[in-house]
Amino acid sequence: MIGYKKVTGDLDLTGKVAIVIGGAGGIGEATARMYAHKGAKIVIADCKQNCPDVAASIAADYGVETLGVRCDVTSQESVDAMLAATIEKFGEVNVLAAMPGFVDLYRATDIEIANVEKHIAINAVGVFRACQAVANQMIKQGKGGKIVCITSQADFIAINKHVGYTMSKAALVGMIKVCALEWAEYGININGVAPTVVNTYMGERAWQGKVKTDMIEKIPAHRFAETDEIAAAVLFLSCDESNMITGEDLVVDGGFTIY
Ligand SMILES: NC(=O)c1ccc[n+]([C@@H]2O[C@H](COP(=O)([O-])OP(=O)(O)OC[C@H]3O[C@@H](n4cnc5c(N)ncnc54)[C@H](O)[C@@H]3O)[C@@H](O)[C@H]2O)c1
Repeated sequence: MIGYKKVTGDLDLTGKVAIVIGGAGGIGEATARMYAHKGAKIVIADCKQNCPDVAASIAADYGVETLGVRCDVTSQESVDAMLAATIEKFGEVNVLAAMPGFVDLYRATDIEIANVEKHIAINAVGVFRACQAVANQMIKQGKGGKIVCITSQADFIAINKHVGYTMSKAALVGMIKVCALEWAEYGININGVAPTVVNTYMGERAWQGKVKTDMIEKIPAHRFAETDEIAAAVLFLSCDESNMITGEDLVVDGGFTIY
C-alpha cells in the first residue's frame, strides 16, 4: 500500500536516487536540475552521447552525485544496462522520470505505418519498458517509489498532423492507470504530466510560423510553457507531498484544454 507520511511542503528529495530518461536536454534536463536542487542523486539517461557531460554539469552546479549513461528505450538490453549501472553506483533507485520523446507530423491519410510504429516504440513501449524495469527493482528494494511519465495535451484533444504522436501518448495514459492500480500495493506511485507546447527542440520542431502564432492565440495563458514549469509539476509528483495521487495525468497547459 501507499502509506501515510506527514509532509512539510518542502518537496524534498535529499538522498533519493532519481533516473531521468530523456535527461540530456529539454524538459528532462530541467527536471534533473530541479531534482538535484532538492538534493537527489541523478542519473542522466538518454540516447544522446552527451549524458556524461550533462551529468557532470549538474554535479558541479548542485554538489550532488550524478551518473550519465547512454540509454535507448527501444532496446531492452540498453535499459537493463542503464539500470544495472545505476544500482552499481548508487545501490538503489527511488524515482524515475520517464520522458524520452519523438514526434513527426503527417496527416492521418499520409503517415507511413512504420512512422506510427516508431512513435509507439519510443513514446509508449519504450517508456513502459523503462517503467517495468525500474518498478521491478523498486519492488525488490521494498521501499516503494515514484514514477512520472511525460504525456501530452494531445491525450485530451485532437491536434492536426499529430496522429502518430497522439496514438503513442494516449497509450501511455492507459499504461499509467493500469500500472498505478497494480503497483500501489508495493508503495509505487505512477503518474503522467501532460504539457501544452513547451519551448524545447521538440516544441520548436513541431510548432513554427503561422501554426505557432495560431496556437499561442488559442492558449488562454497566451504563451507556450517553459521547461522549468513542467519540471515543477514532475517534482511535485516525485515527492511525498503527492503520495495520495496515483494513476493521474496532470495537465500543464495554460488552460488550452478548457475548451
Ligand atoms: N516540447 C513540447 O512541446 C512537448 C509537449 C508535450 C509533451 N512533450 C514531451 O516531453 C518529453 C520531453 O520532450 P522535450 O520537449 O524536452 O524534447 P527534447 O527533444 O528536448 O527531449 C526529448 C529527449 O528524448 C530523448 N530520446 C528520444 N528518443 C529516445 C530513446 N529512444 N531513448 C532514450 N532517449 C530518447 C532525446 O534524445 C531527447 O533528449 C517528450 O516525451 C515529449 O513527447 C513535449
